[in-house]
Amino acid sequence: MPKKVGLLFGMERSFPLALVEEINRQGAGKVVAEPVNTASPRFDAKPPYDVVLDRISQDIPFYRYWLKQCCFHGTQVVNNPFWWSADEKYFGCMVAESVGVAVPKTMLLPPFERPEGTEAESFSNLSYPLNWEEIFDHLGFPIFMKPADGGGWRDVFKCDNPDEFMAAYHKSRDLTMMIQEAIDFTDYFRCYGLGREHVHIMRYDPLQPHHKRYVTDGPPIEGELLEKLRRDVLALCGALGYDFNTVELAMRDGVPIAIDFTNPAPDAERSSVGEENFAWILDHTAKFLIDRALNPRPFEVTGEWPQSAPCARLNSAPSARSGAGGSTA
Ligand SMILES: Nc1ncnc2c1ncn2[C@@H]1O[C@H](COP(=O)(O)OP(=O)(O)OP(=O)(O)O)[C@@H](O)[C@H]1O
Ligand SMILES: [Mg+2]
Repeated sequence: MPKKVGLLFGMERSFPLALVEEINRQGAGKVVAEPVNTASPRFDAKPPYDVVLDRISQDIPFYRYWLKQCCFHGTQVVNNPFWWSADEKYFGCMVAESVGVAVPKTMLLPPFERPEGTEAESFSNLSYPLNWEEIFDHLGFPIFMKPADGGGWRDVFKCDNPDEFMAAYHKSRDLTMMIQEAIDFTDYFRCYGLGREHVHIMRYDPLQPHHKRYVTDGPPIEGELLEKLRRDVLALCGALGYDFNTVELAMRDGVPIAIDFTNPAPDAERSSVGEENFAWILDHTAKFLIDRALNPRPFEVTGEWPQSAPCARLNSAPSARSGAGGSTA
C-alpha cells in the first residue's frame, strides 16, 4: 500500500492542485497525494492519511479539530495544529532572541476596548493608565502596531507620532496589539523554510503594491549574507517547530532583523510569488512531504525552544547567543 498525503486547502487552487500532481510524480507509486476528503468525522475513527499539509485551518476551526484527531491517530500534520493554536507573534520574539535571531524592540498592549462579556473589574490586575512617555521613549517613533496573532497585513499600523499612535490604538478594537520599533531597512527578504532543512530566499519589497512585492530582478544573494539568512531561517523554523513557514527579514546595518516569521500557511500562489519561486516551493514541498510519509517523526508538542531558551537566556551574553540554535534536525 502506498503512503498517502492529503492536501487541506481553502480558496487557493494553483499550489495545492499542482502539489498533488508533483507528489504523485515524485512519489513514484510509493507515496500518493490527493485533496483531503472528510465529512462529519466520528471521534474514534482513524483518518486515512499518513501526512496532511494544512493550508486553511487557521480560518476554519472544524478543520483544526479534525487535524488534532489526525495527530492523535498518528498522521503527520504539517504544521502541527496544537502548536499553531498556541503560537503568536509576541511569544515568537522571545523564541527568536533565544536562538540568536535579532528582533525589533517589542512590547504588548492591553486591548483598547474590553472584549465582549468582560467588565472593568475583569481587568483589575492591569495597571492603568499606561506610562506612554516611557513606552514611546523605549521604542522611539515610528512605531509599528499590529495584532499579536495577526496575519495577511490586517490591522497593521505605522505610527509616526503620539497622535497617530493613539488613533491606531483607538481603531484596534478589542484586539491584543503588539508594538515595535520600526526597522529602517536597506533590503528585505521573504524566505521559505521547508522541512526545517530547505531554505529559499526571495527579495521582497513590502513598500510596493501587492502584485509587485516579489522582486525578480534584484542582485544575487550570496556569500556571508546568504549563510546568515539561511542560518536565521533554519534557527527560527527549528525553534518554532514549523516545517512549512516563511520568515521575513529586514536588513539594518548589515544585520537581518526578523519582522514576521510565524506564517504556517504562507502565500504560495503562482501569480503572487512568480514562476521561479513557485517551481522551487512545489519541488521542495513535494520532497519533504514524501520524506515525512516514508520517515515519520515522533509527535512533538512544539519546536526546540523549550530546550534552547532557558540556557541561552540565563547563561549567555548577547554576543554568544547569536551563535546558538540553528539545528536542522
Ligand atoms: N517592526 C517593523 N519594522 C519595519 N517594518 C515593519 C515592522 N513590522 C511590520 N512592518 C511592515 O509591515 C508589513 C506587515 O507586517 P507583518 O508582516 O508583521 O504583518 P502580517 O499581517 O503578518 O502580514 P503578512 O502575513 O501579509 O506578511 C511588513 O511586511 C513590513 O513591511
Ligand atoms: Mg508579513
